[in-house]
Amino acid sequence: MYRTHNCGELRLEHAGQEVTLSGWVQISRDFGGLKFVDLRDRYGITQLVFDMEDNADLAQQARQLGREFVIRATGKVRERTNKNPNRATGDVEIEVTELTILNASKVPPFTIEDETDGGDDLRMKYRYLDLRRNPVQQNIIFRSKVAIESRKYLAEQGFLEIETPFLIKSTPEGARDFVVPSRMNPGQFYALPQSPQTFKQILMVAGMDKYFQIVKCFRDEDLRADRQPEFTQIDCEMAFVTQEDILNTFEGLTKHVFKAALDVELPDFPRMSYDEAIQRFGSDKPDLRFGMEFFELNDVAQGKGFGVFDSAELVVGICAEGQADAYSNKDIKKLTEWMQRPQIGAKGLVYVKFQEDGSIKSSVGKFFSDEDLQAWGEKFGAKKGDMLLILSGETDKTRKQLNELRLEMGRRMDLMKPGVYKPLWVVDFPLLEWDEDSERFHAMHHPFTSPKKEDVARMLDGDHETMKSLRADAYDLVINGAEIGGGSIRIHDRALQAKNFQLLGFTPEEAEYQFGFLMGAFEYGAPPHGGIAFGFDRLCAIMSGQQSIRDFIAFPKNNQGRDVMIEAPSLIDDTQLDELNLKLTIDPTRDKE
Ligand code: AMO
Repeated sequence: MYRTHNCGELRLEHAGQEVTLSGWVQISRDFGGLKFVDLRDRYGITQLVFDMEDNADLAQQARQLGREFVIRATGKVRERTNKNPNRATGDVEIEVTELTILNASKVPPFTIEDETDGGDDLRMKYRYLDLRRNPVQQNIIFRSKVAIESRKYLAEQGFLEIETPFLIKSTPEGARDFVVPSRMNPGQFYALPQSPQTFKQILMVAGMDKYFQIVKCFRDEDLRADRQPEFTQIDCEMAFVTQEDILNTFEGLTKHVFKAALDVELPDFPRMSYDEAIQRFGSDKPDLRFGMEFFELNDVAQGKGFGVFDSAELVVGICAEGQADAYSNKDIKKLTEWMQRPQIGAKGLVYVKFQEDGSIKSSVGKFFSDEDLQAWGEKFGAKKGDMLLILSGETDKTRKQLNELRLEMGRRMDLMKPGVYKPLWVVDFPLLEWDEDSERFHAMHHPFTSPKKEDVARMLDGDHETMKSLRADAYDLVINGAEIGGGSIRIHDRALQAKNFQLLGFTPEEAEYQFGFLMGAFEYGAPPHGGIAFGFDRLCAIMSGQQSIRDFIAFPKNNQGRDVMIEAPSLIDDTQLDELNLKLTIDPTRDKE
């Protein structure tokens, strides 16, 4: 037998019992004639004690133990004289009488402790060691819990869990596809799904009514802390539903997993239109853990002779409460430089300080009287001690820049409190987005999203400008400034779908070639339907108060999209290339030896 108990289980009440534990040696210390070993497994750490004087054989074995050795130890549980209140098993230790070394270990390349000395690449190369560390292990355990609770909730609501294929034809969701060459169909390729979008819609046409899947999706896009090339969605679709039905069902799912996995009761989620989110926060995923809303100043700041404002499409600012005295001229200069970095690209930054002594100080004091500046302050409800930060310029750009500033001030002022969750639904997204560079429309969500009922007629026969104003039944779930999920009511009518493809720049032949199967299905009694997909990795990270999704994925890729543990991607040999008819296409200069 390997174990009677695990390493997190023993308490004072077990004192006197003989037990067997198996696990990894976290650390060992010699102390007088005694050797103390911390034995670790997924469940916790238990202290083992070896009497190095009484039993020579046992002592001899114990002396060999190094970090990460895998051992089995049998002995009696006894009360510790020197208790460790920070550990669940800290009241007891095991007086070992029998030891088996199940496997030795080389000295690990970094310490397997909560705070490790291992850099990112090293941790990724030895991911199996990194996964032994408690914080990473807890993330993976948490993820498992959220997955199981999601399944429970959805099963209770009558959803069927149905798998869809990974070797498919490209489904555009805005990123590039990963492709897989087909050996049996020379020169042809499968694409890995960016999401199961078209399949879940076809499942609705097939009468499955409520579908879900916790599913891998693949997108060849630039990586960031919250993006991986393969990631997981809780992907869902429902037939005969309105947007309202979907928001209610998935608000329910979110509340359920927060309660079950974190014991947090979320209040009802507020809803905000896309336009309102952009106007008040400069972002379609506002972090509502703090206010610092935008206020527009065109009416009070223009026409007073300050050319920069006068020529701007938008003058808009935020109020940083209590920061007037915290920012010296030098600090403001630094903040301005931060805003002028190419990543943000602001031209300048105007401040107004309502100082504690009642005076007003501003970088544009020359152009505006105290009364003028007071009038600005009133817009924000600014008090003594507050500081306004103001930008101006072209509307969309300025809002984006001010969003960055708002988030930065939120961070500096410590307003993004851990343990606080502010979910909201952002609704009424535009259907199409005009791209100036390529001079074409893009789908704001994806090409299968339905315009709002009241906009259908305008979509079918409106002009170019009309198309820019069409709204969609599309929605995002945002929590603490992160886009956790997105979905829409779908088009279920062939003609409307064809019109949408046309607006997106597809010729009828291209639309037929890529999506004929879907439009064909719409001709055989497609029910009205809609759905949503949660970014499962992101959900887990945000629930745990973290930005990066990497440590919620057992085997993530690094920033170059590489798995450094298995060394993928990698070259494949000539025979394999030959079979796939790829050799010449991939690398005509490849040496033939
Ligand atoms: P969307 O593209 O908005 O919608 O994706 C849904 C959610 O998936 C998460 N997500 C990602 N997470 C990690 N890494 C990535 N590279 C990544 N890309 C997206 C986000 C996002 O909100 N088929 C539609 C859903 C639908 O309409 O039902 C879709 O995939 O949290």
